Amino acid sequence: MATGSDMTPPSTRTEDASSRAPRVLLVSGSRHLESHLHDLVRIAAEAARDAGAELQTLALHELELPVMHYNDRSQRELPAVRRVLETARWADGFILATPEYHGNMSGCLKNWFDFLYGELAGKFAGVIACTGGGGGDMSITSVKNSFMWCHGFTLPFHAAARKTDFADGRLINPKIIDRVQRIAHDVVRYAPLIRAAFEQARATGKGVGAGVAGTHA
Ligand SMILES: Cc1cc2nc3c(=O)[nH]c(=O)nc-3n(C[C@H](O)[C@H](O)[C@H](O)COP(=O)(O)O)c2cc1C
Repeated sequence: MATGSDMTPPSTRTEDASSRAPRVLLVSGSRHLESHLHDLVRIAAEAARDAGAELQTLALHELELPVMHYNDRSQRELPAVRRVLETARWADGFILATPEYHGNMSGCLKNWFDFLYGELAGKFAGVIACTGGGGGDMSITSVKNSFMWCHGFTLPFHAAARKTDFADGRLINPKIIDRVQRIAHDVVRYAPLIRAAFEQARATGKGVGAGVAGTHA
């Protein structure tokens, strides 16, 4: 388990996510200021807003997040770490964007994960990636694995853009644009339902009838 386990008392975690606008956190996982990933993020953000989400974007190139140090509890007081924890707690669902680095997600996105655990449980995520030429399966799978290992649920659909899908930093491949937009709409659609079901199950306690939510009760 990572350091960032959710310390919020169960009684304050049970608000009904299905009765308000879906809250989506878009995490942009590149430290490269000129990254092609930023245009993927822009398209996903527009689509999520069009779908009715209340959206926040966490741009990891704008956040001075230290490398997670498991034994250093003082990290939890740093503004960047607090922002990571608070935005993750706030979100019903996530759109996670990563460049593919050495057949994996970026180091900064993995570092974001390392501050979190319970904040992602019972939440929903869609994944988008940007690659130099590969199909993106490796980085997408690594993001989905980490999200699932935090007891989150992932969309069985994803999108990856290669550098050749861009012109002047803009994504121009209509098939990839279409996929990114579908992912955003699906995160907005499913995230509140999954969160509400999970919170309802968690409220029933630790018994096996609560399923995985019972392990977070
Ligand atoms: C350290 C590093 C490792 C990379 N590994 C891969 C890789 O395994 N597969 C791939 O297709 N591209 C790889 N790339 C290329 C990036 O995926 C590509 O440059 C990026 O997604 C596009 O975003 P950018 O505009 O920030 O470069 C790698 C790039 C870097 C810097």
